[in-house]
Amino acid sequence: MNLFDVYPINPITITKAKGSYVWDDQGEQYLDLYGGHAVISIGHTHPHWVKRIEEQLNKIAFYSNSIKIPLQEELAAKLGKVSGKEDYQLFLCNSGAEANENALKLASFHNGRKKIVAFNKAFHGRTSLAVSATDNKNYIAPVNETDNVIFLPFNDEAALEACFKKQGDEISSVIIEGIQGVGGINVADVSFLKKIRSLCDQYGAVYIADSVQCGYGRSGKFFSHDFAGVNADIYSMAKGMGNGFPIGSIIIAPHIKPKHFQLGTTFGGNHLACVAALAVLEVMEEEKLLGNAVMMGKYLREELEKIEEIENVRGRGLMIGFDVPEEIKDLKKNLLMNHKIFTGEAKPNVIRLLPSLGLKKRDAEMFIDAVKEEIEVMKVN
Ligand SMILES: Cc1ncc(COP(=O)(O)O)c(C=O)c1O
Repeated sequence: MNLFDVYPINPITITKAKGSYVWDDQGEQYLDLYGGHAVISIGHTHPHWVKRIEEQLNKIAFYSNSIKIPLQEELAAKLGKVSGKEDYQLFLCNSGAEANENALKLASFHNGRKKIVAFNKAFHGRTSLAVSATDNKNYIAPVNETDNVIFLPFNDEAALEACFKKQGDEISSVIIEGIQGVGGINVADVSFLKKIRSLCDQYGAVYIADSVQCGYGRSGKFFSHDFAGVNADIYSMAKGMGNGFPIGSIIIAPHIKPKHFQLGTTFGGNHLACVAALAVLEVMEEEKLLGNAVMMGKYLREELEKIEEIENVRGRGLMIGFDVPEEIKDLKKNLLMNHKIFTGEAKPNVIRLLPSLGLKKRDAEMFIDAVKEEIEVMKVN
């Protein structure tokens, strides 16, 4: 049987990983500033994470949600404390798309409405409703086409206000990434997020903060939406939550009440996933990783801004993007081939940095040196 060929891939086989480094099957070492789509939050194979999972594996890995799983309550309490949203309610699932699917659905159950406001360049996942709210026609199958999603320009307060004025009573939810990831590292303005909050309050819509990529400490705050100083009604999470162990979740504000059987899952909240997520939060606190993300992010952005050949350095914490002009368009490829450094990309010409939140200064320096060296070489050739 062949694999269903859905992505172009790098011809590299990674067999080992530790911290911010991975090794291929030839023993070659790579600096990983991509974390496999922003997933590695506390570092590859972190010893505390490995130990927690190993210990749990020897007790019980899975049982369904038909029984009590105290680890879920432990995770809810810890997540509430670390995120500062202690009065929210936790629903566990397995991926980012699933988290957004549940968020959008729950919002609709809550206010009985159908319309969703999403934004240009948004990416919310591949499942039916999440993909309908994703601004890429290539991902939307005919069966997912719907009139229920309204796309508006990102950070355009006037357009948002006009939309609510016209049909505010029909809008169930507004879904927005605090920092667009796949869309190219576009930071939502503080005033825009505040405007979403006030319009949702005024019209009874649900503010959904897609924090799948920009959440879990990546921005230097637990949620990048926290920069706006307002609370969303639902936050969706995944990626960094399990540091590579598949887990997703939504946290739900107290005014949204649960009803039996509206949401459900077989695998969500299983014992192994819960300990993986607990281990991540424990390491985040112990190693003060949010502070490190702020510090290393500032260093990287400042150094990148000094390199005149690259443009429009942006982002928060360790979610950084910059534009690569045509003259140095091979920068990403050359960083990988010549310097053994993994970075991410966004179309058409953005390099995305999404390293472990434990990134060390010497590794950040090595990256900056490699960028400068590579640009010099490309200029000569
Ligand atoms: C902002 C955002 N939301 C949702 C998703 C979907 O997550 P998953 O691939 O875990 O379904 C992604 C994945 O890249 C994402 O970046």
